[in-house]
Amino acid sequence: MEDKVSLLAKTLTPSPIQQLSLLAQRCNAINLAEGFPDFPAPSHIKDAAIAAINSDFNQYRMKQMHGLDVDPLTDIAICCGQSEAFAATMFAIINPGDEVILFDPSYETYETCIKMAGGVPVYVSLDPPHWNLGRDKLMMSFTLRTKAIVLNSPHNPTGKVFTEDELEIIAGACRARDCLAVTDEVYELITYDNEEHISLASLPEMQNRTIITSSLSKTFSVTGWRIGWAIAPACFASAIRNIHIKVTDSAPAPFQEAALVALTSPPEYFESLRKDYESKRDYIVELLLRVGFQLHMKPKGSFFVFAELPESCILSDIEFVEELIKQAGVVAVPGCGFFHTNQSSDEFSQAAFSYQKKYIRFAFCKSDATLYSAAQKLGQLCDAEGPLKLMYSGECTAH
Ligand SMILES: Cc1ncc(COP(=O)(O)O)c(C=O)c1O
Repeated sequence: MEDKVSLLAKTLTPSPIQQLSLLAQRCNAINLAEGFPDFPAPSHIKDAAIAAINSDFNQYRMKQMHGLDVDPLTDIAICCGQSEAFAATMFAIINPGDEVILFDPSYETYETCIKMAGGVPVYVSLDPPHWNLGRDKLMMSFTLRTKAIVLNSPHNPTGKVFTEDELEIIAGACRARDCLAVTDEVYELITYDNEEHISLASLPEMQNRTIITSSLSKTFSVTGWRIGWAIAPACFASAIRNIHIKVTDSAPAPFQEAALVALTSPPEYFESLRKDYESKRDYIVELLLRVGFQLHMKPKGSFFVFAELPESCILSDIEFVEELIKQAGVVAVPGCGFFHTNQSSDEFSQAAFSYQKKYIRFAFCKSDATLYSAAQKLGQLCDAEGPLKLMYSGECTAH
């Protein structure tokens, strides 16, 4: 029966990350890999969801949110998380062969959604170690088929917040090439060191060509509630809504009610969210430096650290994570899964992109107890002088 599986589905094979997840489960490893908080959601939001369920908010619903000047009746599509909002956006804007520009490294699901919608992802690599955006590189990636550019800021996996200059470069390119922007702003309220998130849509002449996607998942630690949205000019919002209705019909109604309460939380909630994450960030940054990782920048947003392997380390990122699971009982994500520009087999580009096998992503959206246990376990692998030394013990048993 396998021949009945579509060609598209066959291209969606498990990534090394999924294989390592299996190994991590078997070893009962501490999970610093996935970006879901392991602590409770805020009680005022849970209470709102329970109240909505008890009041029988059980039917299909759409609701309003966000700060820009938008018409809630025409410019918003509520979806099942940012993930569905993004996928529906791709189906709403892509014709076969249209190109969509992505930055490299990037969150993995964008590429799949673009391809499923018949589009072609075109990658522009950000320059390590600070992941700066080069104007010329970006401009050279445009062709007559370019339909849109995707911007995720604050950025997964690097924790970068795109600077005002970089936003202006992207906006300028969109205006000059009459191209759309699709933003993923799920970490918009998780920024550090007084860094403020700026939505690309707020730059001059950008709101009418930007589709903002975001969700409740990260800001309110409710990744399983599946409430997200797209905010866009009416023609796109209605196309996205039509696709959403055909695929899922509605986002969960009681959680939409709770979303209203969540989004009108008092400023103290958002302040303490940032503060709590900032202290977790400082803790993990200090830990990773102590055990020998190279960090060229502290994350300015999101809840990830993208750490370069210790200089003396001869393992690849995948080998390193495999050993981390087996020897320390801690799992993180090998960075290679976030890179896409190194697809060529020629030696020159292999060498130029060799940095892509040297990064590990650690998620710090975890309780202090989890982070402390991970610190203990990593510490045990260091000798008195540090840094952490891992030898490769063989092929990953999860393969
Ligand atoms: C950059 C980014 N966008 C979107 C998502 C998924 O968001 P949602 O739960 O709203 O689908 C994640 C989750 O890890 C993410 O890191």
